[in-house]
Amino acid sequence: NSIDKGNFSWSAPSNIALVKYWGKKENQIPANPSVSFTLNNCKTITALAFTKKQNDGNFSFDLLFEGKPKEDFKPKIQKFLERVEVYLPFLKDYHFTIDTQNTFPHSSGIASSASGMAALAINFMSLEKALNPEMTEDYFISKASFLARLGSGSACRSVKGQVVVWGNQASIKGSTDLYGVEYPYEIHPVFKNFQDTILLVDKGEKQVSSTVGHDLMHNHPFAERRFAQAHENLDKLIPVFKNGDLDEFIKIVESEALTLHAMMMTSQPYFILMKPNTLQIINAIWKFRNDTKIPVCFTLDAGANVHVLYPNSVKEKVLQFIQAELVGYCQNGQYLCDEIGNGALLG
Ligand code: PMV
Repeated sequence: NSIDKGNFSWSAPSNIALVKYWGKKENQIPANPSVSFTLNNCKTITALAFTKKQNDGNFSFDLLFEGKPKEDFKPKIQKFLERVEVYLPFLKDYHFTIDTQNTFPHSSGIASSASGMAALAINFMSLEKALNPEMTEDYFISKASFLARLGSGSACRSVKGQVVVWGNQASIKGSTDLYGVEYPYEIHPVFKNFQDTILLVDKGEKQVSSTVGHDLMHNHPFAERRFAQAHENLDKLIPVFKNGDLDEFIKIVESEALTLHAMMMTSQPYFILMKPNTLQIINAIWKFRNDTKIPVCFTLDAGANVHVLYPNSVKEKVLQFIQAELVGYCQNGQYLCDEIGNGALLG
């Protein structure tokens, strides 16, 4: 099968982990399983145009970010192509133009690696599918996630929705270290349209890249216990997803966020990635929850921003609270409203 030229366009969303991936082995194999909500609004939209060229043993691509050439992103893409070449043997037969943009503000402190790598990986899978049309939809999606994983681990959880598990967990059918799978069991309606309001506390460059962060788990004094705990917490979430017990959900999710930061505070070298306003927000959420009994909680990535999670039914009250009491802790008062979503979309 031969195709001379063409183009695809895919969007892929970001995702927010409930049980965190922190620590990895060779080839982007996670040290522990993780589970996330796929988001809906924070997305990367990537168009991939391709024209056949002579295979001269080199990758050939141009990179546009928001319509303009972006040289400093190229090494990351080059590295990605090198890693996935064995799985996409046609890569050196084409010249690619990768045209990418995010729906969320640039340098907002929201990592675009998950959405960006997922969008790129699934575009390349579209070409692979065009060249091998007999592949099944299941294979297509799983391999897109597999390739995304090689770009950035958590990106493999952005291909599908709405709840995605990545990493082998005995109790979760089909789960694997190689790619993300849709959570295969019943999910209570309370999680339908679950909300994630992202409070932008610090939009600066990341203090610690996730590559360095994952490496800190090698020889970490608490690593083995932490990896076991992630398995335990994922098991504890199975009945929670089924029965919608938000008190239990909150305990697991907040503990996971603080444990991620505790790992960074206890590694060598050590880091504090929260800012004073991160703690102000956490305390305000705890007080609000205690006063109102509204089931709202927080989670954190490897940075200072706070994700505020809550069911759709309390959206109005929580947004009022955020506007009245939390916006003041955000840089330039900025926050993003998102919710659980369905994963990558063509077009
Ligand atoms: O995908 P990476 O290598 O950028 O790692 C991301 C890790 C966390 O966001 C901190 C946790 C997670 O599971 O998403």
